[in-house]
Amino acid sequence: MTINKVLVVGLGLMGRGILQVCAQSGFESYGYDVSEEAVKNAIGFIENTLEKRVKKGKMTEDDKTKVLANIKVVSDLNEAKDVDLAIEAVFEDINVKQDVFKKLDEVLQPNAILASNTSALPATPLASVTKRADKFIIIHFHLPPTVMRLIELVRAIQTSDETTESAKEFCKAIGKDAVEIKVDCPGFLTNRTMIPLMNEVVYCLYEGVSTREDIDLAFKSGFNWPMGPLQLMDFIGLDTLLHIMEDLHKRCGGNKFLPCPLLSNMVAAGYCGHKSGKGFYEYSK
Ligand SMILES: NC(=O)c1ccc[n+]([C@@H]2O[C@H](COP(=O)([O-])OP(=O)(O)OC[C@H]3O[C@@H](n4cnc5c(N)ncnc54)[C@H](O)[C@@H]3O)[C@@H](O)[C@H]2O)c1
Repeated sequence: MTINKVLVVGLGLMGRGILQVCAQSGFESYGYDVSEEAVKNAIGFIENTLEKRVKKGKMTEDDKTKVLANIKVVSDLNEAKDVDLAIEAVFEDINVKQDVFKKLDEVLQPNAILASNTSALPATPLASVTKRADKFIIIHFHLPPTVMRLIELVRAIQTSDETTESAKEFCKAIGKDAVEIKVDCPGFLTNRTMIPLMNEVVYCLYEGVSTREDIDLAFKSGFNWPMGPLQLMDFIGLDTLLHIMEDLHKRCGGNKFLPCPLLSNMVAAGYCGHKSGKGFYEYSK
């Protein structure tokens, strides 16, 4: 299926970046969020990012105008009913996501592909709440979507080859590297391996193995990471990270994904990272 029009549902940290990537790649790009504030923040964020690119000489004013003209914010999903692809980027909660897919299934034209940007939930239970499970796929972007090239494509057991091919073509059109995950397993490839590492890093801080600055320095100097893991976790959002870990723990058992108490306590205290002004580090709003 040829994809021309894309809808992004949920315009938080990930959704706003995905919307920008689609608009920059020339797609007619629709955005929807239940929160008016999130919509306002997302559009403000995209305008600022494009303006910075213009100032740095990476984009012309004319290009910026064209990208913004590709974006249409809708307050009712019916206004986007003829899109070819919908990408869901709402909270990492299976019930919230399933409700979104039931609604999209009702509203969108029958050929439209339904995709989730979930970090770690399996594809099959999401596909199964729709009447078009063969047209469901996970398109997992990485943070920040405007910069990171990797996309994990995860098939539900019902996903058709045609849907996978269309998703691959879409990834190519937006300039990303698609990695196909062959088994519908929780956490896929990147989060299955990164989440236990992140959790272990939090344990190191919790046990006083080293300071936050030195822990981050170790990964930057030792492994050439562009930022340390504690800073990265602050940007991902500690609440999002905790949701991912709790879900992986529930699905996989054992201790591999059992969240460090420090992480649970920080989220309980409202220290959710960059977006809340405080996480492992402090941020001015
Ligand atoms: N944060 C990351 O680094 C990262 C990376 C890759 C994937 N993800 C995944 O992307 C998804 C979104 O994460 P995020 O970090 O952008 O979260 P976020 O909290 O920043 O944004 C979620 C947005 O969804 C909106 N929303 C909630 N329910 C909705 C509904 N029913 N309909 C429409 N909008 C709704 C909220 O208003 C909010 O703006 C999650 O599944 C997450 O696991 C996150």
